[in-house]
Amino acid sequence: MLNIIKVGTFFSGIGSPEKALEKLKKEKFIKDYNIEFFSEIDKNAIKSYCAIHNINENLNLGDITKIKGEDLPYCDLWIGGFPCQDISCAGKMRGFDCNSLTRSSLGWEMIRLIKEVKIKPKYIIFENVASIKSKKFKNVLESFKTDLEKENYTLYDNIISATDFGVPQIRKRYFLIAILNNFKQFNFPKVLHETKNLRDYLDCNVNEKYYLTNNEYVESKNKRIFENKDDKKIIYEVDMTKFALGGRCGTDRHCKFNQSSRLFSELGNCPTLTASNTSDNAKIVVEV
Ligand SMILES: C[S@@+](CC[C@H](N)C(=O)[O-])C[C@H]1O[C@@H](n2cnc3c(N)ncnc32)[C@H](O)[C@@H]1O
Repeated sequence: MLNIIKVGTFFSGIGSPEKALEKLKKEKFIKDYNIEFFSEIDKNAIKSYCAIHNINENLNLGDITKIKGEDLPYCDLWIGGFPCQDISCAGKMRGFDCNSLTRSSLGWEMIRLIKEVKIKPKYIIFENVASIKSKKFKNVLESFKTDLEKENYTLYDNIISATDFGVPQIRKRYFLIAILNNFKQFNFPKVLHETKNLRDYLDCNVNEKYYLTNNEYVESKNKRIFENKDDKKIIYEVDMTKFALGGRCGTDRHCKFNQSSRLFSELGNCPTLTASNTSDNAKIVVEV
């Protein structure tokens, strides 16, 4: 076991992989880790990253396209969850190809850095949306992997879902693990059989402002019809048989968009939270 894992991340966001390392340390799976650098361009993400991980902003190398591989300090582990908007089925699926000039083509910058860096990292973790494995991106993904193999990395990849690891969010993600010179074997973790639902995570005392309706409804067959407490034109329709099964259990009739009109039972999982969820949150039905 390495004493201190030196880690550098690209497209660092708020640093969720770093949070995972913190948990692994707490649970004594690893001895320790040190963030040697991170790379992020969004000013709010940078501030959050530094606050969450208690590190100085000067460790941020900024825009990946401006980084020179030969300037990078040695790290055992690189991690990059490169932008997914142009790969995701929630977007237009316009590109991952290095010539597509899309945000998702930025993943190739990590390949450039691997070629340029003085001492290559032993391990690299790439993460992206599951649709990167779709027919549309098959050839580009294959050439991405071939480039890594040419640099002496052995590859392991898989799509795994957060719901299989005790998190009640349907979030399938593609992981590609690259290990230098076949230094170590890797196995993806086994699915956990412990199941959690949203109710396990929701606060017991929630501020009134977060409730959309009062506890009054009209019963119609298996459905309960609720009015929004501030605007009676907004109607929510909840199918109680589906509520009991968990998952999607109703509709916000006011919403124009299919995805944001969905209501989810607290007895199941919530859908993948997307960036647009910041203005239009996933709505969870709770029995009060
Ligand atoms: C899919 S998010 C990664 C989220 C990250 N894994 C986390 O744990 O928060 C992609 C990130 O890449 C950043 N990004 C986009 N273009 C970049 C560039 N040229 N250089 C560095 N980061 C960039 C975005 O600001 C965004 O935070």
